[in-house]
Amino acid sequence: MNRERLEDVANAMVAPGRGILAMDESNPTCKRRFDSIGVEADEESRRAYREILITAKDSSEFLSGYILFDETIRQATGDGRAFPEIIASAGGIPGIKVDKGTLDMPGHPGEKFTQGLDGLGERLIEYREMGAGFAKWRAVITIGDGLPSTACIEANMRSLAMYASICQDADIVPIVEPEVLIDGSHDITTCDSVTRKTIRSLYRAMAEQDVFIEGTILKPSMVVSGTDCPQQAGVAEVAERTIACLKNSVPAANPGIVFLSGGQTAVQSTVHLNAMNAMGVNLPWRLSFSYGRALQEPALKAWAGGAENAALAQAALALRARLNGAATRGEYSPDMEVAA
Ligand code: 13P
Repeated sequence: MNRERLEDVANAMVAPGRGILAMDESNPTCKRRFDSIGVEADEESRRAYREILITAKDSSEFLSGYILFDETIRQATGDGRAFPEIIASAGGIPGIKVDKGTLDMPGHPGEKFTQGLDGLGERLIEYREMGAGFAKWRAVITIGDGLPSTACIEANMRSLAMYASICQDADIVPIVEPEVLIDGSHDITTCDSVTRKTIRSLYRAMAEQDVFIEGTILKPSMVVSGTDCPQQAGVAEVAERTIACLKNSVPAANPGIVFLSGGQTAVQSTVHLNAMNAMGVNLPWRLSFSYGRALQEPALKAWAGGAENAALAQAALALRARLNGAATRGEYSPDMEVAA
């Protein structure tokens, strides 16, 4: 394990003003996104869309890394340049999703278990040769009647720790992503306590596995009210509770925290990140973004499957990238939305 390299890459991923574009949708998820704009999802349409994202010049300044899917890291632009090479030449770091999705958690109806450890070491070596500097693994925690179970949290966090350790052996920075789902009618207090329990369990498992924390990045969900909760917490409460929760459960050695958007709107995701960074509290880690939908949705709509819309889609991505970049410094304001 090259600790210095891991630490350098992790720090570069959360450089001030920059964050990560998650564009690692599996083929079924990509199909759902394309269905929403009436576009058929096949290998070429996925490639064409992702070429637009990767070659959006005005975005790259604000994007330190791009999380790719296995199919995507092997793809190239229409004129034959490999995607990882395009990303690196614009000063970004190519990353790769390495989990293999979720299964129903055995013996625990309503819960999920993330798979993908088999053969991971060999896959990582291949990805590293293709230029990947970091990887991502997502665990899913569901809040519901009697959920999550301790068994679900512990099993998933142990797998995350094992994944992180395997990544570091291959000199790849692991993004560890324990997503507490936003779906449900639970209140923000429930989200807070489940998120604390989950993240503490993750760092306990990583300590037992001797993961080098300085060479990891945490990708959590924010502490928010469930989508169907009648009392929706406001921006200040989300920001304060998320910061308090993280201070309570994430070690200071961790270099950075990049949030997922998890079903929040594009603007909400920016506003919440900004509020946390504008609070003026001294934090031991950087707070940034690793959004999928919140960065891509406006670009996806602008593209609508038409090559002639590429410039519009790139402008839409660039706007979200720039505003989230500002939010990492606590310098976003709503009038920047209209100024674009
Ligand atoms: P969202 O921001 O759309 O939640 O996606 C982030 C991600 O990478 C989920 O694994």
